[in-house]
Amino acid sequence: MSTILIVDDEKNLRRLLRDTLEAEGLTFLQAGSGEEALARFQEVSCDLVLLDMILPDQNGLQVLKQMKRIAAEVPVIIMTAYSEVQGAVEAMKAQAADYLCKPFDLDELKLVVHRILENTALAQKYRRLHELEQDRHEATQIIGESRLTRRLRQMVKQVAASEASSVLIHGESGTGKELVARGLHYSGPRREYPLVELNCASISETLFESELFGHERGAFTDAKAAKKGLAEVAHKGTLFLDEIGEMARPLQAKFLRFLEERCFRRVGGTQSISVDVRVVAATNRDLLELVKTGTFRKDLYYRLNLIYIPIPPLRERAEDVLPLVQYFLGQANHLFKKAIRAFSPEAERLLTAYSWPGNVRELRNVIERIVILEQDDVIRPEHLPPEISGARPGALGDRLDIGALFPQSLEKVEDTYISAVMKQVGGNKTKAAEILGITRQTLRARLNSSR
Ligand SMILES: Nc1ncnc2c1ncn2[C@@H]1O[C@H](COP(=O)(O)OP(=O)(O)OP(=O)(O)O)[C@@H](O)[C@H]1O
Ligand SMILES: [Mg+2]
Repeated sequence: MSTILIVDDEKNLRRLLRDTLEAEGLTFLQAGSGEEALARFQEVSCDLVLLDMILPDQNGLQVLKQMKRIAAEVPVIIMTAYSEVQGAVEAMKAQAADYLCKPFDLDELKLVVHRILENTALAQKYRRLHELEQDRHEATQIIGESRLTRRLRQMVKQVAASEASSVLIHGESGTGKELVARGLHYSGPRREYPLVELNCASISETLFESELFGHERGAFTDAKAAKKGLAEVAHKGTLFLDEIGEMARPLQAKFLRFLEERCFRRVGGTQSISVDVRVVAATNRDLLELVKTGTFRKDLYYRLNLIYIPIPPLRERAEDVLPLVQYFLGQANHLFKKAIRAFSPEAERLLTAYSWPGNVRELRNVIERIVILEQDDVIRPEHLPPEISGARPGALGDRLDIGALFPQSLEKVEDTYISAVMKQVGGNKTKAAEILGITRQTLRARLNSSR
């Protein structure tokens, strides 16, 4: 519900305004002087102010200017007599939202109030959308300072701005294919239109066609109503086909036809529908290899390959590791409300030297886990997972001589193993519990009972 502050020294007018506006479902505050008005304005957050130009203690214009200084986004409507039109002009210059000439018609008042409240709501909605847009932008940032990544950023920018109608992205799992696809969409003119994703691996052959091209009513048993396909939904935007290497061979022919003609028929339909979409396809497979083995059509491969964006694995661009670590550290600190400051030089060296088989996704997960689990504000090698810190897998075995355990009960053996794990993780119970696959409470109980 919106709250309105009414500022006028005439009590009767205030009452009339209140009655009128309350009947409209608005809440209402009042002030009889400039000083009182400013005090209320600071105390309560109101959505609109109705301000008389002539107040006993101050000029309404002064009050308006002060209000604009306190909270510029709150709209103020000036009330003025015909003889004071010059004042109204001044008030508009001082950013009044509108003015009403006294004596005014109550219907006119209601109209102006509603219009302005609606505009404010719109402005707020716009601001929120704008913030959302910035978040999106954030989510399409390609981090990294290696030569390869700079080139990748450059390429994304150029292709996004171009008319290129199809693009093929290739890279190992976790290298950022989806990120690049989003970048291609959101940094070009198509960003105003939808980005629609379809994963070729997770959908059956029959469903795929109707998802992509839509279907007419009655096209198959379940088709109770006609439905638009994703190719149609993505009109003027981008159609992102993930894992294109998994597309069933019979579909490849239909898809190629669509790529070449940019038109299609809905399943069970006769009419040809034309769309303007950019197709961005991604794969971690070697498509040329698939062409050789006959699982992927050669002509489709060449059609897609016109604009080819390769994303190199992270191990080939080690200079990206530390900037990515910083970036994900900042994000994870924020997300998990932690304040881990940095990685020690030795930890940084290990992170850079690691081969990252899971690429950037693996790096992000490692950083998130560290931020969740660790309390220290500097991360050292012993906080890193063993595959990165190079903690020899034999290290635990050295302390744990299975042969020497015989003949002991299973429970005793477990205790020995638990204490070896505790030593290995430097006494960190959270970490030990995680490795052992038990809760911290269970771990604590076991440690107490074995003493
Ligand atoms: N250069 C980069 N800068 C910032 N974040 C990145 C970068 N590369 C990848 N990421 C992030 O790493 C994660 C994995 O990336 P993404 O999902 O795009 O990989 P993918 O290649 O599509 O993986 P998959 O083959 O498994 O589908 C995402 O959170 C993504 O935002
Ligand atoms: Mg992906």
